[in-house]
Amino acid sequence: MGRSICITSGKGGVGKTTITAALGCAISNLGYSVVVVDTDFGLNNLDLALCAEMQVVYNLADCLEGRCRIRQALLQDAEHENLYLLASTQPYTYKPNKKAWKACMQELEDMFDFVLIDSPAGVDANWQFSVEVCREVLVVVVPQLASLRDADKVLSLIEPMQKEGVGLIVNRYRTEYVVQQKMLSAQDIEEALHCEVVGCIPEIDVLTVASVQEIGIHMQYFENIAQTIISGEKRVITTHTPKLGVWNKIKKIWSRSAI
Ligand SMILES: Nc1ncnc2c1ncn2[C@@H]1O[C@H](COP(=O)(O)OP(=O)(O)OP(=O)(O)O)[C@@H](O)[C@H]1O
Ligand SMILES: [Mg+2]
Repeated sequence: MGRSICITSGKGGVGKTTITAALGCAISNLGYSVVVVDTDFGLNNLDLALCAEMQVVYNLADCLEGRCRIRQALLQDAEHENLYLLASTQPYTYKPNKKAWKACMQELEDMFDFVLIDSPAGVDANWQFSVEVCREVLVVVVPQLASLRDADKVLSLIEPMQKEGVGLIVNRYRTEYVVQQKMLSAQDIEEALHCEVVGCIPEIDVLTVASVQEIGIHMQYFENIAQTIISGEKRVITTHTPKLGVWNKIKKIWSRSAI
């Protein structure tokens, strides 16, 4: 039985799709079979992130509606033989059949070591079900108050679901800003959200088209997270514990509004 992990967030645009695609590559580089599944119906971009948009014939909706078998909809990645994509569908109005979706997930878990779901941002019905069908959840945050408050909200919705594992990925992390106390550290975020940080990804300046091909040498950050996920070990990249200052006042405001 493979591990199903939902990569999700409260706030949109924080890097879920980029991270799902890159983690898929990183985990498959470590020798595991991986399928990345786009459940962001209507706002689907995972095919673009993997540069596979021209190859998509069948998508997840076709599988759920019985127009094709799952194997027919799986696209093998051009560069990673252990990595497959199950793309999503365009109409935003598409309402997936939950029973079929659950059955599809079970089939994927039987076929692959890892099933990574690129979910929509919280918290509509498709978000809810994307999280529900997975055993584990990774919530992506950027070190900004709006993202943290939304993450706090989705974590409170995830908690009653009793997942096998819930962690945070801090994206667009800038160590130099943390040192200058202009940005929350990974440790601060962990404390504020009461959730373990699985890893941090820095701001990657070359990410202009948002495809994995641009990640290049920065793939090491995703490989670190992949190793942490596989081993179950916690390897947090923290560089600094901010002292009292303006930033701490902002944090106090944040903690008041989060409760
Ligand atoms: N670490 C990073 N450094 C620089 N740019 C990044 C980083 N992570 C993501 N981005 C950029 O941020 C934008 C949004 O990323 P992405 O589409 O992965 O977010 P998302 O959470 O999936 O968005 P949505 O909620 O709309 O699905 C993209 O242009 C992407 O290239
Ligand atoms: Mg996305």
